[in-house]
Amino acid sequence: MSETSRLFTDGEAYEQVMGRWSRMVGERFLDWLDVPTGMRWVDIGCGNGAFTELIVARCAPSSIFGFDPSSGQIAFARTRPGAQQADYQVAGAEALPLADDSADAAVMALVISFVTNPAKAIAEMARVTRPGGWVATYMWDLERDGVPTFHIHAAAKSLGISTGSLPNTVVARQEVMRDLWQTAGLVSVETMVIRIPVRHESFEDYWAIQSLPVGPAGRLIQTMSPDQTEQLRTRLREIMPIAADGSIAFEAVANAIKGRVP
Ligand SMILES: C[S@@+](CC[C@H](N)C(=O)[O-])C[C@H]1O[C@@H](n2cnc3c(N)ncnc32)[C@H](O)[C@@H]1O
Repeated sequence: MSETSRLFTDGEAYEQVMGRWSRMVGERFLDWLDVPTGMRWVDIGCGNGAFTELIVARCAPSSIFGFDPSSGQIAFARTRPGAQQADYQVAGAEALPLADDSADAAVMALVISFVTNPAKAIAEMARVTRPGGWVATYMWDLERDGVPTFHIHAAAKSLGISTGSLPNTVVARQEVMRDLWQTAGLVSVETMVIRIPVRHESFEDYWAIQSLPVGPAGRLIQTMSPDQTEQLRTRLREIMPIAADGSIAFEAVANAIKGRVP
């Protein structure tokens, strides 16, 4: 298992930290992708199955595979009631255990920046998708503060604390995605910016969720001294958009791309 996939082994905690935001973006993405019902889907980097469940609910696939290198995430995904028809397997994006042209739609939701070789991953998605089928992805706009956990990374950085970095933040840019899709020979390529409202009842609500031991920020907090933790909380309070009633609201932004296999 790679270092990055090891960051997402607790499916239940992931649901709190990212799963719900993933769902909001995922709904917008699937509406835009506009794949007919009854298709064969592949959800690559399916994680805890949040997005797989959404595909089942909204697109009524005839079959669906969910692949992820994290066995912990796959184990959680298998327990989800909403995607019992899904065939979940431990596998990475760079080597999909599927025959050529065996899917109608291959998607990666919030995954591409974790993949060490995105070009190989897109080539794999195109390989397993039949001519005319869809190859698509979306990722938080990491370089433009689009990720819902942006504030915690910024606060840590301003204190000289590294939250680590994803293998590939650049690939979340629309123009880089477009290059990858074109290099893979995909056609009818289109991009879209997806904006969603992120809201927390209070700072303590936000902090409790960020402290869950999942993802780069949560893992970091677990290893910090009480002093460092207090400094981080103080800095966060300074930079977060906290309203008069104590609630926190901001916008998360993702870039999406879709193309067809010629
Ligand atoms: C932010 S999560 C997204 C999960 C899910 N798609 C969603 O939208 O909720 C990123 C996922 O990418 C997976 N991942 C990391 N490296 C990968 C790779 N090389 N191939 C496929 N998935 C990978 C992680 O294990 C993790 O589950």
